[in-house]
Amino acid sequence: MTEAWRPDDDRPRRPSGPVRVRVPAKINLHLGVGPLRADGYHELTTVYHAIGLYDELTARPGDTLTLTMAGEGAGELVLDDSNLIIRAARALARRTGLPALARLHLRKHIPLAGGLAGGSADAAAALVACDALWGAGLSREELAEVAVELGSDVPFLVYGGTALGTGRGEIVSPVLVRPANWHWVVAAADGGLSTPEVYRELDRLRGAGAAPPPLGSTDPLLAALRQRDPGVLAQALGNDLQAAALSLRPDLADTLAAGVAAGALTGLVSGSGPSCVFLTRTSDAATRIAAALKESGTCRSAEAVQGPMAGARVA
Ligand code: C5P
Repeated sequence: MTEAWRPDDDRPRRPSGPVRVRVPAKINLHLGVGPLRADGYHELTTVYHAIGLYDELTARPGDTLTLTMAGEGAGELVLDDSNLIIRAARALARRTGLPALARLHLRKHIPLAGGLAGGSADAAAALVACDALWGAGLSREELAEVAVELGSDVPFLVYGGTALGTGRGEIVSPVLVRPANWHWVVAAADGGLSTPEVYRELDRLRGAGAAPPPLGSTDPLLAALRQRDPGVLAQALGNDLQAAALSLRPDLADTLAAGVAAGALTGLVSGSGPSCVFLTRTSDAATRIAAALKESGTCRSAEAVQGPMAGARVA
């Protein structure tokens, strides 16, 4: 018997043109680092927040799997099979049983090794782009399952928004608060920091009794998000990796001080650094503080952005 044609057929269709996916950077509003586990990861309690700083990945049909790039860090990033974008495409092909064929092009804006999860964002973008190009039709949850093997932050970037991360960061659940628009300034530093090195430095500082006490529960942060008052949120932000990032890059203290001197409510190191992020009351204040930070000479660039933003999406 032949299968009947259904006018409401909702099976995914392959797009006729290129697929363009936009993916945001992330910051951590709360980054609580627990003990080192046997698998080499640290137990985390974090609140992720996607911000309006984007990479863009374009996927076109191809006879092989290739990757090219332009923008931030072009020439520094290795584009072979070790690249997280290629690994993401192959992981999706394995999951779906489809051939890993695509011409991928990355326009990079998120700084490399900056503590903004740029590499993880690109992996999330590759999952969403190849899913659309191949007509695979996986749900967000299914894409997030594939994302787990690619990196701790990748599942969050499939979802975006503001979300609680536990485990090594890969167990993600949305923070259910009435959406508010938060205004941030992101200051990029010269050079990057290696995430494993920053975690190792925190372990060393803790072993020597030289680290600040670990952040406690996320409850104050979640309550502050509910209050929707930037002044209250500023008091609740925290990052256990900040002491380690500052120990490896003492110059970041100047960046943090310059942002606060320019009128930011507070500043903190983003993730494992060296990018720093500042909370402001309004978008005008963010624009003004970004200009003052650039002027201060304490960072490579500074940009006013908003959050929360959606995760990797077909543009
Ligand atoms: O998961 P991802 O590949 O992004 O992690 C990079 C490195 O950061 C890990 O190899 C590990 O050294 C460190 N890390 C950690 N604990 C976590 C997440 C990352 O120690 N929860």
